[in-house]
Amino acid sequence: MKYYGCGLPFPEAVEGCSVLDLGCGTGRDVYVLSQLVGPEGRVVGVDMTDEQLAVAREFQPWHEQKFGWKNTEFYQGYIEKLDEISALKEGDFDVIISNCVINLSLDKKAVLSHCQRLLKEGGEMYFSDIYASKPVPEALRRDKVAWGECLSGALFWRDLYAYCQELGALLDPLPVQASAIEVGDARLKNLISETCPDGLEFASVTYRIFKKTDKTTSTSALTQEVKYLGSIPGSTDTTFCLSHGRKFRKGETVSVTYELAEVLRMSRYKSHFEFLGDSGSPINPFTILEKTGGSCGSGSPEQEKKFSADNIPIHCIIHVRNTPLHWKFSVSACHEPRSLTPITCARCNLSFCLKHRHPCDHKCTAVSQQQSILQAKNDASVAFLARIQARFSDKRDKGCGGSKNPATAQKVALMRLKQRAKLGQTGVAEEEKFFLEILPPARFADSGRAAVPIIMSKLSTIGKVIDVAADVLDVPNENNREGAKMLRLFNAQGQAMSEGESLECLLEKAALVNGGSLLLEYAEE
Ligand SMILES: C[S@@+](CC[C@H](N)C(=O)[O-])C[C@H]1O[C@@H](n2cnc3c(N)ncnc32)[C@H](O)[C@@H]1O
Ligand SMILES: [Zn+2]
Ligand SMILES: [Zn+2]
Repeated sequence: MKYYGCGLPFPEAVEGCSVLDLGCGTGRDVYVLSQLVGPEGRVVGVDMTDEQLAVAREFQPWHEQKFGWKNTEFYQGYIEKLDEISALKEGDFDVIISNCVINLSLDKKAVLSHCQRLLKEGGEMYFSDIYASKPVPEALRRDKVAWGECLSGALFWRDLYAYCQELGALLDPLPVQASAIEVGDARLKNLISETCPDGLEFASVTYRIFKKTDKTTSTSALTQEVKYLGSIPGSTDTTFCLSHGRKFRKGETVSVTYELAEVLRMSRYKSHFEFLGDSGSPINPFTILEKTGGSCGSGSPEQEKKFSADNIPIHCIIHVRNTPLHWKFSVSACHEPRSLTPITCARCNLSFCLKHRHPCDHKCTAVSQQQSILQAKNDASVAFLARIQARFSDKRDKGCGGSKNPATAQKVALMRLKQRAKLGQTGVAEEEKFFLEILPPARFADSGRAAVPIIMSKLSTIGKVIDVAADVLDVPNENNREGAKMLRLFNAQGQAMSEGESLECLLEKAALVNGGSLLLEYAEE
């Protein structure tokens, strides 16, 4: 196998990530990344040359057998026309690498534009390629030997910055590593000194180019303090080198631009950094409102006592630690901003902030006044219940893993959903994701509409799941209209999920499982 390439091809912290390799050749980097991202990750190689891809694909079965997972894909195509490869979806990738390929492209800006589209917010291009110290003169660009040496198409490094700025959603490129390229060929050397009397140099450079988050546009003049936790796996010491001149040492608090902080916060690096409270970031006025009325968890003195510090949901604490904003602590137990109008819990009648309004979010101690799970009771609904349960047994008969032991079957179902689910609340943080398969309402199933896998935040309510599911399945949803036939979600036992409950909450009550199926149906109440 022949190796090409320049620079360090592998970015840090890619475990579980989706990675795209542009101009993957025979797939050498794809297979290394396949190991680095692990079984939960995905590595896609694209190349225009069928012969290269044939070699790459030849190794696929061997790698799958040896390591026990299948996470590589190869597609033939042009990196200037990545929209023609339907498997590459907008916002799908954490990292895009390319090793000595961009110099060969005649439309480098088109390549960057596709990368901008395919990256997640906070995602990163990690490109190793050949750059020139000034625009490469025409004579050199037309020279066959220079082309073969990857010099003809070398991009003037400042043009890379210009392209990124023109494309709009990319941060300025950050050089990670650069090494000089000596031109050995005597004739080429002459040609260079003839056409560029005051010199022309070439270098192999690795750049990181981050995709901005939607918050990074207007605040780039501000700074934010961050602390690296020293936790990026595989780094030999406790320093993370983001780019030349920008090293993060474990435990050291440093100031970075607000837009870089936002990118780190959105990116796969987020768990390796602490984002410190007092920053120059814009202060949301709604988080610093003076206390005028009730506050989160307020009620009678005894009631307030019940909402003690150990009742704080853990996500709330994490949220505070990572926030750059000046939160107003409305009561000592709650670190969330006080909402403008207090929201009252229907069970305990205390007032809560937006985050804590659901009973399970403030570990409501009051006895349930309303049944959280509605069970069919009368004769008419018994027939309805039977129809719902039949829908789930139909599915099992079609061989969806019903015969294995339930725990294994559930694991398998979750794994499959994770791979298939592309729609729903896709922007949610990995650890917050909840996967569901949604069966369509009977009248749509009868006309052939298939079940769809969706991604949800586990903090979302059933009401939200219904909206997302109806949207994805493209079925009418009139839940906001009075008197309309209500869309509801049912589990395999025929229980209707209560709209106000969060997925996390229902999981705790064992009313559903992550990776499970729910039926969307118009209720006959
Ligand atoms: C110098 S090789 C590098 C291969 C691989 N990245 C490596 O480091 O070993 C360049 C590769 O890019 C591919 N390539 C060049 N231009 C391309 C384009 N416009 N679209 C897709 N692939 C391209 C070629 O087929 C070739 O496999
Ligand atoms: Zn609260
Ligand atoms: Zn309550």
